[in-house]
Amino acid sequence: MPKTMSAMVLTGHGGPEKLVYYNDFPVPQPGAHDVLIEVSACGLNNTDIKVREAQYAVDFDPNSDLDETSAAASIAATNGETGLSFPRIQGADIVGRIAAVGNKVSQDRVGERVLVDFSIYHAKDTDGSPRMDLSNVDYIGHGADGGFADYVVVPALNAHKIQRNIPDAELATFGCATLTAEHMLSRVSAKSGDKILITGAGGGVGSAAIQLARARGAIPYAVTSRGKEEQILSLGAEACICRQDFTDQSGGFDKDAFLVAVTEATRSNRSVDVVIDQVGGSMFHGLLQALRPDGHYISAGTISGYTPRINLHTVYMAFLNIHGSSQGQPEDFARIVDYIEAGKIGPTLGGIFPLSQLHHAQKTFQAKNYVGNIVVVPDAKWKEFGEPDARR
Ligand SMILES: NC(=O)c1ccc[n+]([C@@H]2O[C@H](COP(=O)([O-])OP(=O)(O)OC[C@H]3O[C@@H](n4cnc5c(N)ncnc54)[C@H](OP(=O)(O)O)[C@@H]3O)[C@@H](O)[C@H]2O)c1
Repeated sequence: MPKTMSAMVLTGHGGPEKLVYYNDFPVPQPGAHDVLIEVSACGLNNTDIKVREAQYAVDFDPNSDLDETSAAASIAATNGETGLSFPRIQGADIVGRIAAVGNKVSQDRVGERVLVDFSIYHAKDTDGSPRMDLSNVDYIGHGADGGFADYVVVPALNAHKIQRNIPDAELATFGCATLTAEHMLSRVSAKSGDKILITGAGGGVGSAAIQLARARGAIPYAVTSRGKEEQILSLGAEACICRQDFTDQSGGFDKDAFLVAVTEATRSNRSVDVVIDQVGGSMFHGLLQALRPDGHYISAGTISGYTPRINLHTVYMAFLNIHGSSQGQPEDFARIVDYIEAGKIGPTLGGIFPLSQLHHAQKTFQAKNYVGNIVVVPDAKWKEFGEPDARR
């Protein structure tokens, strides 16, 4: 085993310049219950960028006179304490092979190809034994080093063997986004026949939600950008609603025209059972009004703004249910692994970059001109993918 490795290291809060590429970073050692993974691919996430920029203003009160940036902070674990310290290697969506194991893990696992559940479950039962639920959760790449490196150590329980023959870079498009989408569907008990309206459908969470809704027998309707419709329909969307038809450059949103389009797509008025929303912002109120009485709105992200205004008449008069969701539980991840192995969900790869070009990869990721997710590959393995013109 080498003593040092290449790694993209986050050195503090700030811009991309805080991500520094090292060729001599120490290879981590597995603890008793851990595995050491030789990384072959790692997916990108908005969360890594927002953490770097300290954009998680969870304590911001929109009614206060304060500027929201004054409340910006790094994401906190659900116990209120941040697990982040510097230097930190980010990267949550890890695929690789087990290279070594801790002394409480079976040696038979060495060589397994694995996809990593990125959640760090901190909760404990009263007898001190670990409880893998969401009451105290952090994630790999924030509370512990992640996969933007040649090697990473994770708890053995988080490393899931994958046998289906999918290239590693494609496998790395599952992970954070897929787990988040599956947990959202679980939280609202989405079931066969439900009409599910999904925003940000071209993104990692949205494109996963389309496939996962279909896997449950539900009917997904996509809100997406012009130009992505064909790919979104091929993932299983029943119909696409183009957001540029209702939004203007200044963020204004024509709610009434949007509701007409939803009615046309779903073929009836206010008949949506579930809204899976990653967008928030000015679209929020229209999304509530698209729901049937007693329908469910659930948010796991706010890519266009986190302080929308809300008309509470709309909520209580229609008996609406509003949920928040983050990450997911081990049983959600186990279902995802089953779906992958059974071929019920497939990868959606928007591009591949060598790890040393993470800055460039994140720029492409933020432009959002692709469907699915973008993946980086350790430079030592980049040759297998050819030169950058082999990006997809
Ligand atoms: N809570 C959690 O555990 C968790 C986990 C993962 C992600 N998230 C959050 O969820 C959000 C989506 O994540 P993701 O991984 O799916 O991101 P992503 O891959 O970057 O996709 C986001 C999609 O949202 C749409 N979009 C972008 N800007 C928009 C705007 N201004 N207005 C309307 N739509 C816009 C685009 O899709 P179209 O072009 O199709 O419209 C874009 O592809 C992010 O805010 C992320 O931080 C939360």
